[in-house]
Amino acid sequence: MRLLVLGGTRFVGRHVVDAAVRRGHDVATFTRGLSGHPPDGVLALHGDRDDPPSLAAALSGAAARGWRPDVVVDTSCQTRAAAEQAAGALADVRAYALVSSLNAYRAWPPGPVPSDAEATWPEDGDGVEPDAYGPVKAHAERVLTAAVRGPVLLARAGLIAGPHDDVGRVAWWLRRLARGGRVVVPGSGAMEQQVALVDARDLADWLVRGVEEGWSGGVNATSTAGTTTLGRLLRTCADVAGGDAELVEVPEEHLLAAGVEPWVHLPYWLPRDVAVTAWDVATPRARETGLVQRTVCETVADTWAWLQAAGDGQELRADRPAPGLPQDLERELLASAGSLR
Ligand SMILES: NC(=O)c1ccc[n+]([C@@H]2O[C@H](COP(=O)([O-])OP(=O)(O)OC[C@H]3O[C@@H](n4cnc5c(N)ncnc54)[C@H](OP(=O)(O)O)[C@@H]3O)[C@@H](O)[C@H]2O)c1
Repeated sequence: MRLLVLGGTRFVGRHVVDAAVRRGHDVATFTRGLSGHPPDGVLALHGDRDDPPSLAAALSGAAARGWRPDVVVDTSCQTRAAAEQAAGALADVRAYALVSSLNAYRAWPPGPVPSDAEATWPEDGDGVEPDAYGPVKAHAERVLTAAVRGPVLLARAGLIAGPHDDVGRVAWWLRRLARGGRVVVPGSGAMEQQVALVDARDLADWLVRGVEEGWSGGVNATSTAGTTTLGRLLRTCADVAGGDAELVEVPEEHLLAAGVEPWVHLPYWLPRDVAVTAWDVATPRARETGLVQRTVCETVADTWAWLQAAGDGQELRADRPAPGLPQDLERELLASAGSLR
């Protein structure tokens, strides 16, 4: 099939391109051309998803050369305009898979998410910020489902990890743990908290199968709750990165009082009132449709191998805060952790 990836040159999209090529599809990407190029043999179309005529113009240029998409995997939808432009230009495709997010659910976080069919953010009303991430994803789901003639798969991803991750959360832990010494990790039971990751390569394979087979509707596209815990993830990072790191658990109250930002300063850490339900996400359709859950160990080891090969030059996404604990804050926390002993 002719498979168009909207996106395709950074993280998840790059793996979608690889999976689609491996599965024998004739692939094109649509990007601005700022983040690099797809591999040889993939048609690179260019334009800006936020500039209304540009997707249609790129598609008519491709059509003039005999290339028209049969199916679409959309990894780059981040704005209302992007969704609307795609809905207008790609309404005739045979199947469409949108990478959405658990944030499309009005009640997540903190969750729980007991099914694949919980209420998503409405268009307006109390508490709706139209341009916030969750409401934008919910809007994109609605607009594309209404417009596209073929089945539309709404892949509500949670935490995506793996090589080429440009959010950099696992990468930060790996690098910090490789430096060794005393390393602040969250205490107060946080290390026993479950987390649910999906490897971008497994998600990518599954998205391509989704458009091949014409799956539709919402799917919580993550691993089964309880597959791993924050502690197991961090200990795996420490083992993989080597070094002599000593994990120092600092109680939640101390972290919050010192100004440690959950999720950002200590990636994947959520305070217990949110963590208790955030990864309690039911994934019945993901399991029925065979979304693979490779081991966290494999994801972490492959991410480390990629970081080693890439050196220090990877660019992080500009639209997310850079993850990691500032060194002065780490020193302060370690000093007070020492005095608590
Ligand atoms: N990371 C997570 O844990 C997580 C969790 C849940 C959901 N998600 C979702 O997963 C998806 C995966 O994103 P990804 O970054 O890995 O995808 P990607 O397709 O690998 O990278 C983003 C692509 O979009 C292109 N792009 C960016 N802005 C554009 C614009 N205005 N017009 C045209 N192309 C544009 C970029 O190329 P150029 O820069 O060259 O344009 C790049 O190829 C996202 O939709 C995200 O919301 C992520």
